[in-house]
Amino acid sequence: MVDEPQTATARAHSNIAFVKYWGNRDHRLRLPANSSISMNLADLHTTTTVAWDDDLKHDTLTINGAIAADSALERVRNHLDMLRARFKTSRYARVRSTNNFPMGTGIASSASAFAALTAAACAALGLELPERELSTLARRGSGSAARSIPSGYVEWHAGDSHETSFAESFAPPEHWDLIDIIAIVSRAHKRTSSSAGHETADSSVLQPARISSAAERLRVVKSAIMSRDFEQFASVVEEDSNLMHAVMMTSDPPLFYWAPLSFAIMKAVRYWRTIEKLQVCYTLDAGPNVHCICAASDANEVSARLRSLSGELDILRSSAGGGACVLSLRD
Ligand code: DP6
Repeated sequence: MVDEPQTATARAHSNIAFVKYWGNRDHRLRLPANSSISMNLADLHTTTTVAWDDDLKHDTLTINGAIAADSALERVRNHLDMLRARFKTSRYARVRSTNNFPMGTGIASSASAFAALTAAACAALGLELPERELSTLARRGSGSAARSIPSGYVEWHAGDSHETSFAESFAPPEHWDLIDIIAIVSRAHKRTSSSAGHETADSSVLQPARISSAAERLRVVKSAIMSRDFEQFASVVEEDSNLMHAVMMTSDPPLFYWAPLSFAIMKAVRYWRTIEKLQVCYTLDAGPNVHCICAASDANEVSARLRSLSGELDILRSSAGGGACVLSLRD
């Protein structure tokens, strides 16, 4: 193994799934129950510097300048333990991470965080790994992080082993000018994390139906993206989000992530598309915030309409983005 350089900085983008990941066939390896599809978000990213240091007695972590000593540190340590074991180093690391999107907006940062951490940690070990291997390693920290390694429009193949569960790009960001307009319905930290949620997915009687039909939704969404067919894309993206939330709501214990305003926005978005012919559809992750995916030509109109639904709404906006990249290397 090469010893130098010891420090590297990497950046990775958040992503929004169009066919969702919910539930694992193997929790420890984070092997998902179904393959998923997403778009990287150019304007929401995490930048992470990892310095492997012989003098450190344990790993340290700062997030946006503040020292982390809680479950975030624990999760980063576990990920670094996995990398240490794999690449046979006993050194500890100093990790500094910043998000360019506001923390505490309920917008998941684990995908961009673990993709950037993995890319920086490996580069700082002097490793130049193929994208596929980086994706499998990022997956071990957070499943959706596997999808933040490749660029643009991405498919995560569920696979059946560590090596075969990875994400790859099937279209570059410039292939289709989709915009994600995120309506921040609540800034509250989610009470049930995605990790805990994945463990309850199998308790829903609806999960087998969701899983057995996911491959067909994935096929349709991928083909709609390739042919830039918004109508076909929109109906399956909304169906897939609804199905995941149906599983969540019928799990034990049930998980209710929607807020009344989330539901109002979902209904409005459907009206704008089906009656008023705006190219927009909705999708929601494990929280109440609504991702309104729209054609670039309708993005300003969609933002204005969201604001007029509720003046209280904060709105984030992003186009399709690239993959994880190393920004600098230092000895
Ligand atoms: C609802 O990747 O956040 O956003 O592997 O436990 O970190 P962990 O889970 P995570 O799960 C994402 C769930 C989702 C759907 C999706 O992004 O596909």
